[in-house]
Amino acid sequence: MKYAILSFLLLLSSLGSYGQNTATLTVPAKPERTISRHIYGHFAEHLGRCIYGGFYVGENNTKIPHTAGVRNDVVDALKKLKVPNLRWPGGCFADTYHWKDGIGPKNQRPTIVNTWWGGVTENNSFGTHDFLNMCELLGTEPYLAGNMATGQVQELADWVQYTNFAGVSPMSKLRRENGRDKPWNVKYWGIGNEAWGCGGNMTAEYYANEYRKYATFVSDWTNTGGLFRIASGANSGDFNWTETLMKVIPKNLIEGVALHHYAVIDWNKKGPSTNFTEQHYFATMKSALYMEELVQKHSAIMDKYDPEKKIALVVDEWGGWYEVEPNTNPGFLYQQNTMRDAMIAGSTLNTFNNHSDRVRMANLAQAINVLQAVILTEEEKMLLTPTYHVMEMYNVHQDATYLPLTVKSADYTLGNEKLTAVNGSASRDKNGLTHVSLVNIDPKNKQEVSINIEGANYKTVSGRILTSKSLQDHNTFDKPNVITPAAFKGAKLKGNSLKVELPPFSVVVLEMK
Ligand code: AHR
Repeated sequence: MKYAILSFLLLLSSLGSYGQNTATLTVPAKPERTISRHIYGHFAEHLGRCIYGGFYVGENNTKIPHTAGVRNDVVDALKKLKVPNLRWPGGCFADTYHWKDGIGPKNQRPTIVNTWWGGVTENNSFGTHDFLNMCELLGTEPYLAGNMATGQVQELADWVQYTNFAGVSPMSKLRRENGRDKPWNVKYWGIGNEAWGCGGNMTAEYYANEYRKYATFVSDWTNTGGLFRIASGANSGDFNWTETLMKVIPKNLIEGVALHHYAVIDWNKKGPSTNFTEQHYFATMKSALYMEELVQKHSAIMDKYDPEKKIALVVDEWGGWYEVEPNTNPGFLYQQNTMRDAMIAGSTLNTFNNHSDRVRMANLAQAINVLQAVILTEEEKMLLTPTYHVMEMYNVHQDATYLPLTVKSADYTLGNEKLTAVNGSASRDKNGLTHVSLVNIDPKNKQEVSINIEGANYKTVSGRILTSKSLQDHNTFDKPNVITPAAFKGAKLKGNSLKVELPPFSVVVLEMK
């Protein structure tokens, strides 16, 4: 008997423990809002191999198939993500960039030093036309980050006129001379970047006043259509920054306030991208999940000054930041991407979906070969990272009707510390399909989620899952398909009760009709 009890206990422990979670999915008769597709935006900076070698390989490249110098493999992959907007040319680079250096015949363009990123020579062969034409190729909206720190008001006003003015003017004449008749009509404009840091080390008050001046001239006074001006926002938990911007900037001069937050363990000791411990993982996820609190608190400040929620919170830089890969230029921020990154992406996007009343735009940092990239390239080779797959699985939420999903999560514990194990979000698309995305960040335990459905009678459920054998798994140029989405069979629907069994460290997107 003693032996039988012991074997039973051993069997139980070998099965691993099972977290129990409950949730409610509500399908309101009159849904209040949609999830803006712009939450699923990307970011391309002149940093390391993001532009050169990542997006752009040059018009004369004979080894890598391209269209006007832009890699065809990258265009095909990004089209599948349905990239809604792409931010360019920085980041910190934006405040050193003078757009007139990047127009006209390529062999006559001046070179500059990329002072923030590795001190390399930038030959300006990828400039305004190259970027905006590439956006057309990708079917994405451009988001131009203007230079406020080393630029001039006139320079930024000229850029708006160059890209957007259809009539006859000095800048539209120049654009036509450079081969483009029709304006691109760029809607999204950033006024500086990280003005509290690389963008000029300004105080919030000083920046807000400067912003007012720039925004006055970055306007639609030339009938360029409604521009969407985004103020350089807070660094993570700098709530005073948001408060000052909201107080000082008149509402008719601003459409979006930015926020930057990276999931980082410690800025002086970021830890490796692949060879990390569970302690590293826990600390990264703690920083990533802090996004929920940040969004809530910055939104609450914005609510005080803008209760009608006219101004968007634009999280235009987010993602995991680790040490660079061994033997790579430290200024190039090249890092691998594992299932940990899938956990960051799934959880962060759930936060954005759930706060889509205020968060209406965001940009993952960055698209290719830099930080939490969706694509890595090595000469003619290209691979899709776990983050790519999460972005692809989640694109069902783009412009879909937001459905409230409240999750009462079990804990993921390590030592004395704990995090919520499960997070999720839900929406209904224009074809009437409901999608529920769920993330279990617990690396050791399965999580069962019992979801009570209110307001709808679904007949079927299907789904896809992204997981792997080990948290550190990643795709390499030799083995590019270690991590890819698979069909998910762990969801059972009975009446208004949906039971989902989430394996450890997994991202699941369910479809119900
Ligand atoms: O994304 C890398 C850098 O991080 C950006 O250039 C800057 O804005 C931020 O500090």
